[in-house]
Amino acid sequence: MHFSTRILLLASAFAFTVPALADNATPVKIGVILPMTGPSASTGREIDAAIKLYMAQKGDKAGGRKIEIVLKDDTGVADITKRLAQELVVNDKVSVIAGFGLTPLALAAAPIATQAKVPEVVMAAGTATITEASPYIVRTSFTLPQNTVPIADWALKNGVKKVVTLVSDYGPGIDAEKAFSERIKAGGGQVLDNLRAPLRNPEFAPFLQKAKDLKPDALFLFVPSGFGAQLMKQVAERDFAKEGVKVIGTGDVTDDEQLQGMGDAVLGMVTSMDYSVAHKSPENKAFVEAFMKANPAMRPNFMAVGGYDGMALIYGALEKTKGDTDGAKLVDAMKGMSWVSPRGPISIDPETRDIVQNVYIRKVEKVDGQLYNVEFETMPNVKDPVKAAKKAK
Ligand code: PHB
Repeated sequence: MHFSTRILLLASAFAFTVPALADNATPVKIGVILPMTGPSASTGREIDAAIKLYMAQKGDKAGGRKIEIVLKDDTGVADITKRLAQELVVNDKVSVIAGFGLTPLALAAAPIATQAKVPEVVMAAGTATITEASPYIVRTSFTLPQNTVPIADWALKNGVKKVVTLVSDYGPGIDAEKAFSERIKAGGGQVLDNLRAPLRNPEFAPFLQKAKDLKPDALFLFVPSGFGAQLMKQVAERDFAKEGVKVIGTGDVTDDEQLQGMGDAVLGMVTSMDYSVAHKSPENKAFVEAFMKANPAMRPNFMAVGGYDGMALIYGALEKTKGDTDGAKLVDAMKGMSWVSPRGPISIDPETRDIVQNVYIRKVEKVDGQLYNVEFETMPNVKDPVKAAKKAK
């Protein structure tokens, strides 16, 4: 072979192998945006701890690439989330953005995910429409309608006919209110009133008094993670049980992170949710033990599990693409992925990019002196009912 041809061949071989090598040598950065301070700081702490646990257990490599987390605190303010998402994508060159403790925060980042073609993994927020805000959004938390319909069915089965709802007045609260009310009405029940309290600095007393005066069979509650203790303190002061009113809700209210502090007044409260720290499975036992060993002062809640599974989703996708961080390829790899989470079997609906999961009916009970949401019924493989209904039309 002529010498110059050999050089040319060598050079072209280099041209193909060098960038690939260099690419695999560069770490994949994941920009995590969470409320680490402010009223939803518990969500940030739980998810951050879960991400760290996941990486401590599985290592810091996926698809042959080193994984690096860049954590930012948006303090729960949407404008800050948006600016941070932009900076992470443009300056830090992250391949994935993840976290999002509240609906407005997840929505604020959506246009950036779309423009930059970067997957946005929603680990916490629960308004049903979030995944429709960008084709790059994939969710590992839950939707409120998904978690709400089962408690409406439980109420109907347990003789509840007249209901009042009280929710936080923003996306997920309105989703919960609608899902619950429509299901109750469809089952022959009656909705006496739909009450909404502001998300920030809520004063629940006047709403609770109004609910009590209406004498419903059940009062349905939703507030986001971190706000339940405040609500349940005021609920306890009104002794609904004495009036024959069942107090029910989604598990956001009896959040494992705050449940201990709520005291015996919440004993017997029935809720529906995708995760309880008391979930009985070998996967959850291992998860809870490891989480509490690494964070002795904390109990993992549904937010922690959303973060843990979000990492499993990102690692799994990178394995499938063999470390290729092209956004569309990563989202494609995430679609249809299924695995066993600490919460039970889960999968990503390839059409909606939402999570399909079991929803459990649970009752607050004391076990070994501690309060737990003890699961007693399982609705298997629940899809977001809003999107399922849209599709059926
Ligand atoms: C939300 O803002 O979407 C959200 C936050 C916390 C929850 C549920 C929903 O517990």
